[in-house]
Amino acid sequence: MFALVCKDGADEVQAQCAGVFDVRVVTAMSELKRLAAQGDLEGVFVDARLGVTSAVQQRLAGTAVYEYTPPFRIADAMRWHEQTRRAAPKTEAPQSVSPPVSPVPEPPPKQEEAAVRSAAPAPLALRRTVSAPVRRRTVPVILLDSPKGGAGRSTLGAHMAYYGALRGKRVAVIDLDTNGDIAQKFGFADAPDVRGWRGQSVEEAVRDGVCLVHESGLHLFPSAQSPEVVLQDPEDAVYLLQLCLEEMDAVLLDMPQGWTPVHQAVLPYTTQVLFVVVPAVDQLARIQEHADKLVFAGLSKADVSPILNKSKKARSDERALEQYLLPFSVRAVVPFDPTIDKRGGINGKRIVRAMKPFWDEAFGFVAPRKRRRFRLFGR
Ligand SMILES: Nc1ncnc2c1ncn2[C@@H]1O[C@H](COP(=O)(O)OP(=O)(O)O)[C@@H](O)[C@H]1O
Ligand SMILES: [Mg+2]
Repeated sequence: MFALVCKDGADEVQAQCAGVFDVRVVTAMSELKRLAAQGDLEGVFVDARLGVTSAVQQRLAGTAVYEYTPPFRIADAMRWHEQTRRAAPKTEAPQSVSPPVSPVPEPPPKQEEAAVRSAAPAPLALRRTVSAPVRRRTVPVILLDSPKGGAGRSTLGAHMAYYGALRGKRVAVIDLDTNGDIAQKFGFADAPDVRGWRGQSVEEAVRDGVCLVHESGLHLFPSAQSPEVVLQDPEDAVYLLQLCLEEMDAVLLDMPQGWTPVHQAVLPYTTQVLFVVVPAVDQLARIQEHADKLVFAGLSKADVSPILNKSKKARSDERALEQYLLPFSVRAVVPFDPTIDKRGGINGKRIVRAMKPFWDEAFGFVAPRKRRRFRLFGR
């Protein structure tokens, strides 16, 4: 059986494959992995516009992967299949098979090829499922993300925002999580309700009480904390975000746990995902599933920074989690800081020490370095 991973046009592909390949549409990496583990998978057809081909190859080492740029052509697929079959060793030994023969260009296509591909409908717009955002300048938008609540999104986000604000950046924090109030970490007790607000500027938001201003200068849009609200309205989220992009130097989005419509709405604007995880055995499956979701949303390695938070043993925690975070690699390990609550919400010195290299890059205080691992704490 062949799996088909595509943005759209699955019917068309299946119609062409009828009688030639048994094709099944797959929408999640976990499903692909399950089929591969069951030994049911002869190959995977991947729509190039999704940008997930190398992630699929990485996860399904030993399974042949065929990348196509729509329109799908059955003749090309058959040629690929024939080549793959000839190249495969006679004995069945999926683990020892050399990397799959695939027409996928590695590394990704250079300019001329990209120009040819651009004839396909909006290849890049795909990763972003909402309408294409208009960006006047490049403002860092940091998504504070984690598969599970309590990982430390708000804590790390609050520290980061404070760090930037103290160094002169105009930083906005938009709280999109209705569970847990990031405003409290800055000492604001009563959060105003931002629902449906449609003012014209951050200044107006401050005047209307929708935006709180901390003594450090950072601007904070609290989430709707009313008990009947389970999820912030994605349109409200995008409205506030667009407003901040006009006026601020950096925007942090404190996300709800898991994967929600709010994520889909703000992803088009996101420049970096802070993927916060805690090293706990019962979280591993969830962490891997979340990594898969980020991959399927089209985010590349450079877009996602996994942070291990509340770590008690940096090296072994990192080693234990590494494989569940693939294809992303750990950017920082933050130690458990037993004193952060005692000192207030934003004074964790160990947090600052561990996160500073990342923040300095994110705020543009230092030039981005080539992908490297940040120094672990305590050394
Ligand atoms: N590095 C850390 N060391 C110790 N406690 C932490 C650390 N990071 C977060 N916490 C604590 O964990 C709890 C949950 O953190 P929070 O940032 O509210 O999580 P989230 O926003 O992901 O739900 C808070 O009580 C916070 O003080
Ligand atoms: Mg929170």
